[in-house]
Amino acid sequence: MIQVLAHRGASGSYPENTLAAIEAALDIGVDGIELDVQSCADDYAIIHDTWLDRTTNGVGRVNEQSQAYLATLDAGKGQKIPTLQQVFTTIGTRTDINLELKHTFGLDKFVSYIEAHIQQGIINREQLLISSFDHHQLLWLKQKLPWVRIGALTASIPIHYAQFAGSLHAYSIHMDKNFINHEYVLDAKSRGLKVFAYTVDKQQDIDMMIDYGVDGIFTNYPCQTKMYLQRI
Ligand code: G3P
Ligand code: CA
Repeated sequence: MIQVLAHRGASGSYPENTLAAIEAALDIGVDGIELDVQSCADDYAIIHDTWLDRTTNGVGRVNEQSQAYLATLDAGKGQKIPTLQQVFTTIGTRTDINLELKHTFGLDKFVSYIEAHIQQGIINREQLLISSFDHHQLLWLKQKLPWVRIGALTASIPIHYAQFAGSLHAYSIHMDKNFINHEYVLDAKSRGLKVFAYTVDKQQDIDMMIDYGVDGIFTNYPCQTKMYLQRI
């Protein structure tokens, strides 16, 4: 069965990248939850954009604001911008956690958070999947945490697309659904890579991804997607 990963949590029904969206995805029993991570001035914040205005009532760049300021903001329907620690404690070991690094700096601290939460038994190594469009960051991270699963994100299909994933020792390649075809999927799989497609919300797109043989899909509507998959 194709894996269902909740994109920014169950973000079609709850404010994206919030604990409400995470809890809803957990209730549904998804195979994993994808969340966006950014640096704020003194910590990490779970938010997609570099600017606060689209998803919160705050202003300014996320990386220029303190965690204390971010904690005062409304991220939709009374939800807050979660911290990385809140994500780990909320999800625990219940499902896979795909952290997508956006504008994240000072990754030493990111690594130490991961190690500390694993040591405390809050999360485990096997459930983590770290992805980014910044493959240099992924390379750095893989050197720091050789055991971690790396997801090479691609916005298009670069020449030698699967080789770079190989050079990262990636677990998976994450492709835009609009650029995927059967050949790419077969080739990536022959190199031992899992293929995940984003962002797949419509039934016809789900059908197409199944035909292509992708391993998993990121969807904003995990509940509806799981119900559809049970019917077909
Ligand atoms: O990780 C897949 C997908 O989330 C990448 O694009 O813009 O939704 O973060 P975006
Ligand atoms: Ca993302």
